[in-house]
Amino acid sequence: MDNNRKELTPTQIVIELDQYIIGQTEAKRAVAIALRNRWRRQQVAGVLKDEIMPNNIILIGPTGVGKTEISRRLAKLANAPFVKVEASKFTEIGYVGRDVESMIRDLADYAVNMVKMEKTAEVQAKAEALAEEKILDILIPPIKRANSQGEEVSEDEVNSEVYKNQKTREWMRVKLKAGELDDKLVEFDAASQTAVGMQVLGPLGLDDMGINIQEIMGNLMPKKKKKRKTTVSDARQIIAQEEAQKLIDMDAVQREAIERVENSGIVVIDEIDKVAGGGKGQGPDVSREGVQRDLLPIVEGTNVNTKYGVVKTDHVLFIASGAFHVSKPSDLIPELQGRFPIRVELKSLTEADFIQILTTPQNALLKQYSALLETEGVNLEFTKDGIKEVARIATEVNSQVENIGARRLHTILTTLLDDILFDVPDKIPAKKVKINAKAVKDKLDIIVKDRDLSKYIL
Ligand SMILES: Nc1ncnc2c1ncn2[C@@H]1O[C@H](COP(=O)(O)OP(=O)(O)OP(=O)(O)O)[C@@H](O)[C@H]1O
Ligand SMILES: [Mg+2]
Repeated sequence: MDNNRKELTPTQIVIELDQYIIGQTEAKRAVAIALRNRWRRQQVAGVLKDEIMPNNIILIGPTGVGKTEISRRLAKLANAPFVKVEASKFTEIGYVGRDVESMIRDLADYAVNMVKMEKTAEVQAKAEALAEEKILDILIPPIKRANSQGEEVSEDEVNSEVYKNQKTREWMRVKLKAGELDDKLVEFDAASQTAVGMQVLGPLGLDDMGINIQEIMGNLMPKKKKKRKTTVSDARQIIAQEEAQKLIDMDAVQREAIERVENSGIVVIDEIDKVAGGGKGQGPDVSREGVQRDLLPIVEGTNVNTKYGVVKTDHVLFIASGAFHVSKPSDLIPELQGRFPIRVELKSLTEADFIQILTTPQNALLKQYSALLETEGVNLEFTKDGIKEVARIATEVNSQVENIGARRLHTILTTLLDDILFDVPDKIPAKKVKINAKAVKDKLDIIVKDRDLSKYIL
């Protein structure tokens, strides 16, 4: 399977995750094993292969400690189709709201796009070459075997014309490649989008049956060619895109997408605790339990109809997550618990973690703000004690107001940098902005001290 190109070992997976997520070693290990087990399963021969079940996981932990982030990064690493859904958004079949099967349809959409993009990239060079020929055809129409009066022309004459034409064409090709013709206008036939301006509003639930009305209508409508006039550089792109579409076999794309969903799809179900029962010994109320019952077949393995065909969910990896403050995993209906055999707890983040989160991940917040200000020619620098102070305040506010984990860093930084972000470039001509502990205190202390104020601002 080619989406397993880069088959990472569990150790390598953890190393990759370490680039984005600080701490949470146990959770990283669990997802690494789950991912590797999928690949292992693919290697198992014979009937046993179908018997091996995915290692569905429940990530338990307070908000903002990296549960979703770990799953998201994992899917990226695995190059796997990925969707994230909120368990609390689903409703029992028959009630208003989304039914659980829609998550598999979303997964299939994602996979189709993913495969289509890969295939497009594969044929891109060829499509561009074809586009180039087409544009040359427009600029220098090939020689016709008859003159304008429709009389046959002598063989010699044609040959010399063809030769000249060929020469000019090569000369134009050089210019075209060098981009010298980019701004020249050309007129060409473009396939007009089918069904433009026509919104298909099917009766509710048609999508649920996996029927693609847009496509059916699109196929019924005659495909019209439309004259378009654009610059050469735009025309190249438009024509290359059209050629690429023609080179791709959509049936094959859909088949591969479905295979990919079935064998490597990842579904993250957030807020699973919200559909668990619990809370002072009462049983789960009917609708929550209903959602769990609806989830069950999907997690256990069922067939879901999608626009692209039937998807078997047996080997899709499900990663559920939740804070489980009120309810416990044991409040989930037993069958569902059985389908999530791996439970990992994520830790609350400490001040030391915050320092790391601010600075080390590839997408670290401070790197993000530096990059933003860099575009204005301003160099943003945090001193060591400045970073420590931000982390300290985040920890303090988390413990005093509400623990929202690493998300606290976002709110603190936006408040801290508010003035700078507003005043650059008008009022801060300086090329360098340095933020130390004192600057952080000056800006934030008053807010932190005032509980009411920090509730609103930080
Ligand atoms: N351990 C961590 N290392 C680096 N960044 C983190 C970590 N934990 C959280 N973050 C950052 O905090 C933000 C929120 O994290 P995430 O979405 O993973 O929270 P969560 O655990 O899923 O919370 P919730 O229960 O509210 O869904 C993200 O921007 C993420 O990058
Ligand atoms: Mg989350």
